[in-house]
Amino acid sequence: MVTPRVIVVGTGIAGLVAALRAARTHTVTLVTKAELGESNTRYAQGGIAAVMFPDDSVGAHIDDTLAAGAGLNSREAVEILCAEGPDRIRDLVALGVEFDHENGLLARGREAAHSSARVLHAGGDATGAGIESALVRAVRASNVSVLEFTFVRDLLVVDGQVRGVETVDSAGAIRRLEADAVILASGGAGQLYAHTTNPAVATGDGAAAAFRAGARLADVEFYQFHPTSLAVPGNFLVSEAVRGEGALLLDATGRRFMADWHPDAELAPRDVVARGIARQVAVQDGAPVLLDATGLGAAFLEARFPGIDRVSRAHGFDWSREPIPVTPAAHYWMGGIETDLRGRSSLPGLYAVGEVASTGVHGANRLASNSLLESLVFAWRSVDSLGQPWPEDHPAPDTVLRDPIGSDGEPFVRAELQHLLWDTAGMFRSAPALESARSRIAGWSAPSGLSFAALEDRNLLELAGLLVGAALARRESRGAHFRDDYPEADPRFARHSTVQVTPIAPGPHATKETSHALV
Ligand code: SIN
Repeated sequence: MVTPRVIVVGTGIAGLVAALRAARTHTVTLVTKAELGESNTRYAQGGIAAVMFPDDSVGAHIDDTLAAGAGLNSREAVEILCAEGPDRIRDLVALGVEFDHENGLLARGREAAHSSARVLHAGGDATGAGIESALVRAVRASNVSVLEFTFVRDLLVVDGQVRGVETVDSAGAIRRLEADAVILASGGAGQLYAHTTNPAVATGDGAAAAFRAGARLADVEFYQFHPTSLAVPGNFLVSEAVRGEGALLLDATGRRFMADWHPDAELAPRDVVARGIARQVAVQDGAPVLLDATGLGAAFLEARFPGIDRVSRAHGFDWSREPIPVTPAAHYWMGGIETDLRGRSSLPGLYAVGEVASTGVHGANRLASNSLLESLVFAWRSVDSLGQPWPEDHPAPDTVLRDPIGSDGEPFVRAELQHLLWDTAGMFRSAPALESARSRIAGWSAPSGLSFAALEDRNLLELAGLLVGAALARRESRGAHFRDDYPEADPRFARHSTVQVTPIAPGPHATKETSHALV
């Protein structure tokens, strides 16, 4: 019997876990545009949330996740995440990941909007790096074929079924790789924004390729901004776990200000803290707010947060003695390729796991440290459903279709797009700002060429148009999506948004102009 083939795209936790698990039953090719393991996962600090302690409960983790998600989570997906999470953590340990321990027990941190300390970490604040290095070792020792520095430009679709990928190598050579299934685990798109905690590779390539192939995307307007990155070029993440250990946010005069915005102050949901900081910065004429960790002591800071300690000192800050300047930055995309509870997209043969997917777990605002867990749980579930019949697609009746972007506008400039989105589709949005972004985006021509930068630019421009359109359509404020002109949540909008490219044979709802629907 011929062993079925699967292509996994992306080498963060979702891709590595999917590849390792699939390799037991499939011939696996793992493709990444960078070196193996370069991904958002590698830079994750705070950790991975899971119910591993007797004073915690799956029910409490579910409740916290739903509360953060502001009415837009899929309850079933959240229940799966929280219930299956602990077993998947044990599987991760079996794959070689070493979490930190204290007095012989797993160590745990607290992060915002968690009712219990349930965030496991590794190497203090090097959790992602610890996970990546163990999984990369396991992949290198497995029979998974790895293609590094290989860009997945598009998906191969034959008779409505995904049959592989079209790749471009760093010399510009195009190749077709065929497979029985493709698992996209290609991460988020933080590079849409001028300020982001994400690495340079986070350009939304998988979501853009899936969209062009006809897969439905969901909730693309929901982008999470992390409240605290170091206010220096590069926006190095300063983990929420620092506030979980007791660090305070201070205004320029040294006053704690977050209690003005939420009773949980520094540990309020992430979107609330990010907006609170941004408003305070505006009041202070652009001066950054300060994170005061001096009460935690030099020895503790160095041992618990060695990475932040090293980087902040390299920038000239001794955070054990003085508060450090912090600022919000784009961090995590809740939207992505719409999937069911087994990672299956609307396009037969295409799975999506990790940040590129929209499973419904995170709703309108992701609970801190739930993303590594989501990647793990849903990568596992996707692989376990390989080979099963594809469920019939039931698009919502008003799912609206759109035409791809044009090719006769101004030359595209990535930095201009990043500033445009930061200014108009960032933490604060409004119809006039989003409309102006929409017309600027429409004025750029689709970047062409086979360099990785050109391929990324094409994807960023595609996704920017979708994000702005969805943000315009959602005339309310919910979770990470805040509209100055509609500052309250509106129950009529307590639904997912979807977007889909015009198919080859347009259905009755096809339109040239409108690209988004709330369903
Ligand atoms: C952090 O360490 O603050 C990041 C955790 C996360 O984004 O889940």
